[in-house]
Amino acid sequence: MLDSHLFIVFGATGDLMHRKLLPALYDLLLQDAASGQYAILGTSRSQLSDEEFRAQAREAMREHGLTKKEAERWCSAHLHFQSLGEQSEADYQALADRIEALEKEYDLAGNRVFYLALPPQAFEDTLTKLGQVGLNRSEKGWTRIVVEKPFGHDLASARELNDLIHRYFAEDQVYRIDHYLGKETVQNLMVFRFGNAIFESLWNREHVERVDILVAEDLGVGSRAGYYDRSGALRDMIQNHLTQLLTLIAMEAPATAEADAIRHEKIKVLQSIQPIQAEDVVLGQYTRGVLNGQPIPGYREEKGVASDSNTETYVALRLQIANWRWQGVPFVLRTGKCLPRQITRIAVTFRRPPVMLFRSFNGCELTRNVLTITLQPDEGFDLSFEVKSPAKGFQVKTEHLSFRYEDAFGPLPDAYRTLLEDIVNGDQTLFVHAQEVEASWKLYTPIIEQRLPVYFYSAGTWGPTEAQRLLTDAPPDA
Ligand code: BG6
Repeated sequence: MLDSHLFIVFGATGDLMHRKLLPALYDLLLQDAASGQYAILGTSRSQLSDEEFRAQAREAMREHGLTKKEAERWCSAHLHFQSLGEQSEADYQALADRIEALEKEYDLAGNRVFYLALPPQAFEDTLTKLGQVGLNRSEKGWTRIVVEKPFGHDLASARELNDLIHRYFAEDQVYRIDHYLGKETVQNLMVFRFGNAIFESLWNREHVERVDILVAEDLGVGSRAGYYDRSGALRDMIQNHLTQLLTLIAMEAPATAEADAIRHEKIKVLQSIQPIQAEDVVLGQYTRGVLNGQPIPGYREEKGVASDSNTETYVALRLQIANWRWQGVPFVLRTGKCLPRQITRIAVTFRRPPVMLFRSFNGCELTRNVLTITLQPDEGFDLSFEVKSPAKGFQVKTEHLSFRYEDAFGPLPDAYRTLLEDIVNGDQTLFVHAQEVEASWKLYTPIIEQRLPVYFYSAGTWGPTEAQRLLTDAPPDA
């Protein structure tokens, strides 16, 4: 049973609220019927009445598959709106009064979530004003603050943001979202590794030759060009999502399954990574091409992108983790927009057998076993292994052992639903600790500051040819 609570969203008239938060709140709070009393209070600068806010929300809920009646009933029973107007201290005081009034009306226990679904430039003012009017603590219950990415744009800005948050909130109140951590298959990496003894004993430099983490997207920047052009793939994807996957794959077994124990192990991985060398990084930008049979404009032709933009839409980079488990094993992280298909996958390539007994029969080569963990779409695991083709002497062929989540469990829950549940339950395991953010930025900031060359690739291809040298021996893309 979830604690009774008031869920307050800043930026409640925005895209994230409509596309992700409202549907996830509905699934969590109503459909699962696991919740105590609750109310949702949206805020933004817009001047909306409760009814106008609900009308917007009803639209979003209809798109989530609710009937008109279901949407109306849920929105009227639980949704409210308070404008922040000019965002003066008086506006925040009015917000505090409204919070107390709603808590009385719904008979809530004083537990509060403040969810900042805001652009980063709005964080400072919001956090400061919340602190100034005393909303950083609740007299009766708990108060939690949720911060969406991007969490800073380099090491200095991430530190400043952490300092600002810590001025008003203790770390155990802070939930930094990386939505990849809410994906069921990402969480399962831990169970896969620490719930099964067979692989863990092979999970080291003795047996693993390389690890490849790929997040390929078959979409361009869409309507987010304004944000993306200032960010680029290193900041948008590598620093957070791919690095989170890396830490889960590389970390030591934590002492317990508690949030702090797990996050401590992830931080240790980040601290063990060697400074990244410029020659180990290849950046790319897509040009005009064809994707899924459709002509795609080049990145520089996208609306909102400067015609001479050097922002990278593709990154391939090689890391070394200098610890006892991983010394000498390359970890290659790769992500890009407008690649031929959408796939998020981790491939662990094991070392070849030392001798190929069967080569003399027909020239068979030594092949490596590869464990492929597919995080999306078609979530599952595949292990490649060698078998003898029947009746052909010692002809050896690669086959796969496969497991697909959907076959076993049906459709998987949405990441945001999982994350919201953990916030209300006070479980920080799937949220990024202040030290993780800083350790990650410490790694990538020097590379970002070097302004490395950006190579072109046509939309619909697997990235610039210059990246091939980092990918030699990686399992094939498609
Ligand atoms: C977001 C990035 O964090 O993650 C987007 O800002 C990217 O650029 C998205 O498309 C990918 O998320 P998912 O869940 O679709 O893999």
